[in-house]
Amino acid sequence: MKEIRSLYIHFPYCKEICNYCDFYKRRLSSTNDFSKFEASLEIMAQKFQKLLSEYDMTMGSLDTLYIGGGTPSLWGERGVSFLDRLFKRYGWELGSNGEHTLEINPEIQDFSGLEQWRQWGINRFSVGVQSCSDDILKRLNRTHQFRDISSSLDYIAKSGVNFSLDLMLNLPSTGTRDVIAELEQLLEFDPDHLSVYMMTVGSNYAHYKMLPMEEKLEDEYLNTATFLQARGYEHYEVSNFAKKGRESRHNLQYWKAQNMGALGTSATGFFHLDDGGVRLKWLASKDAYTIELLNKEDLELEKLYLLMRTNQGDINKLVLDRLGESQSHAFIKFLANNNYLRDDGEISLNSKGFLMMDSIMDEVFRLDP
Ligand SMILES: C[S@@+](CC[C@H](N)C(=O)[O-])C[C@H]1O[C@@H](n2cnc3c(N)ncnc32)[C@H](O)[C@@H]1O
Ligand code: SF4
Repeated sequence: MKEIRSLYIHFPYCKEICNYCDFYKRRLSSTNDFSKFEASLEIMAQKFQKLLSEYDMTMGSLDTLYIGGGTPSLWGERGVSFLDRLFKRYGWELGSNGEHTLEINPEIQDFSGLEQWRQWGINRFSVGVQSCSDDILKRLNRTHQFRDISSSLDYIAKSGVNFSLDLMLNLPSTGTRDVIAELEQLLEFDPDHLSVYMMTVGSNYAHYKMLPMEEKLEDEYLNTATFLQARGYEHYEVSNFAKKGRESRHNLQYWKAQNMGALGTSATGFFHLDDGGVRLKWLASKDAYTIELLNKEDLELEKLYLLMRTNQGDINKLVLDRLGESQSHAFIKFLANNNYLRDDGEISLNSKGFLMMDSIMDEVFRLDP
């Protein structure tokens, strides 16, 4: 029997809805929403357990757990006792050396809930900072200001727990945004890890005209990467930077296409089969899920795409298998000529390469025999 040792749980509620957010979320209207969510998780857990046994799999003690959202820190002590009961019922447990993350929003005022999560086994917080500029935060409809970032990070940094910050680029601003000054402010709190996402929105976005031009955005990204690397953070994935040994173990499971359990609407899981894999996705209606079967070839292409997004392995073999000898030479030459490769001799992308991921994948398809 094969084991799953990673689990993602999606909590869908938020205090207010940010005007750029493309994740599955709802505005929390009353505590009745918690009851609805918990009832739906109960059904999903039951269905998930059944699905595992159909594929001759079991959930081992968890190396990684990630509770994301939405704003799961809103769930508070109630969430801790609910998950504790759920885990006990199915014999699921947190591994003793695991990485167990909870996403939190800086607007949090009462830290006692976080203490309960820590006692239960959460040992990493991911804090959605997004920007240090109060003007920008207001424009995004965020419920926090810089003073909230500062007080929550003070608490977290003092508690000594491993933590990560989310920051966004491509944000609507009246002038040129000083991202480096914002990063300076954040590094004062000595985070272990930073995720830096480019905001993706359509042209109908309310503040579309205030977004930086493409060239400026490229500068924001490359300047951020240069700055963080000079401060000791490795650029280990397109949007992620970490101190050595503090890379997100949970996300590495995704990027290395490892087995992953999932619960909660919109959450996706994956498990390997002997001749490919199965992708599971939870839908909004009736706690149902879809299953997508991936054959070996689909899986190899996905692995190449995912691994190329990281510096966690040499892509040489995957490229060779996909493109054959002469085309793979042409591909590596294309990467080298454009200065997209790291200078440590490994065939993996540097920050400039990460920025150009889409055109690099286009090149893979162009050369595909
Ligand atoms: C879905 S949120 C959940 C965490 C928390 N609720 C928060 O917003 O701080 C996870 C991260 O996704 C990123 N995000 C949300 N909407 C995005 C968008 N349209 N484009 C890029 N990143 C986005 C934000 O950086 C956010 O921290
Ligand atoms: S708080 Fe996070 S999840 Fe909620 S709407 Fe804002 S970005 Fe989306």
